[in-house]
Amino acid sequence: MEKLTVGFIGFGNMAQAMAQGMISKGAIEPGRIYACARNWDRLCDNAKHYGIHGCRNAKEVTEKSDIVIVAVKPYLVEEVLIPILDTLKGKAVISVAVNFPFERYEEFLLPDTHHLSTLPNTPVAVGEGIILFEEKHSLTEEELRNVKELFSAMGMVETVDGKHLKAAGTISGCGPAFTAMFIEALSDGAVLHGLPRELSYKLASQMVAGTGKLQLATGHHPGIMKDGVCSPGGTTIAGVAAMEREGFRSAVIDAVDAVMKR
Ligand SMILES: NC(=O)c1ccc[n+]([C@@H]2O[C@H](COP(=O)([O-])OP(=O)(O)OC[C@H]3O[C@@H](n4cnc5c(N)ncnc54)[C@H](OP(=O)(O)O)[C@@H]3O)[C@@H](O)[C@H]2O)c1
Repeated sequence: MEKLTVGFIGFGNMAQAMAQGMISKGAIEPGRIYACARNWDRLCDNAKHYGIHGCRNAKEVTEKSDIVIVAVKPYLVEEVLIPILDTLKGKAVISVAVNFPFERYEEFLLPDTHHLSTLPNTPVAVGEGIILFEEKHSLTEEELRNVKELFSAMGMVETVDGKHLKAAGTISGCGPAFTAMFIEALSDGAVLHGLPRELSYKLASQMVAGTGKLQLATGHHPGIMKDGVCSPGGTTIAGVAAMEREGFRSAVIDAVDAVMKR
């Protein structure tokens, strides 16, 4: 791992979140990261900001990297990779593109190219992300070990069967948007009663982070955690009853269902 180099083909929101997570957690020195993008000037600014190397094109990134992370929009994956298929051989090719599972790569990568499809989410930037690994891949054991070690610095790595990737990705990838809406709404309620806005966001976000960590640490059923803060005839149960009346849980279930139907 100490000598490995990492390349990003595409250096937009997700690639930068990943680079930030890897660098800030000390998983890799910035000098061992290479990246390319379409807009050269913007890439140079971003490369300078993170202390990484900007490359002119995907071929240059691939030639300099042991682990090649494909981080362009899904509709560009084939267009960007097909001209450089030769250079991808002998590399560990890691996709972060949504809806690009193993079998879709098999249709156009050269035979025996080593590749793995993953789905990271934006909290990787602070080392608290989720990175889903598709169970089916063609990396060697050593490549998989190295990629797992590198990605673990950015958060929780979970291996998921291909048929569950979309549902798992809905929780990890769309969940930050749903959770941000909850944080905003919770804060709005408190601001309605005079709490300063900045403080309300800080408290709401830490409460979400802490509740999630408590659930992971204890393994408790979420219903038990809810019961634990609802004393009979108390204030919290009044809020829980209001949420039920407004259909909070069915709204969340419908949100996941709507994503799955797209
Ligand atoms: N954002 C998320 O929350 C999230 C979550 C999971 C997975 N993903 C996946 O991550 C991938 C990237 O998404 P994103 O949100 O980071 O998109 P983005 O911000 O639009 O970044 C895309 C990057 O690709 C570059 N690019 C475009 N054409 C290129 C080319 N021909 N050669 C090299 N680079 C090129 C863009 O360069 P310019 O900026 O110079 O145009 C940009 O740096 C997608 O496949 C998406 O499905 C994203």
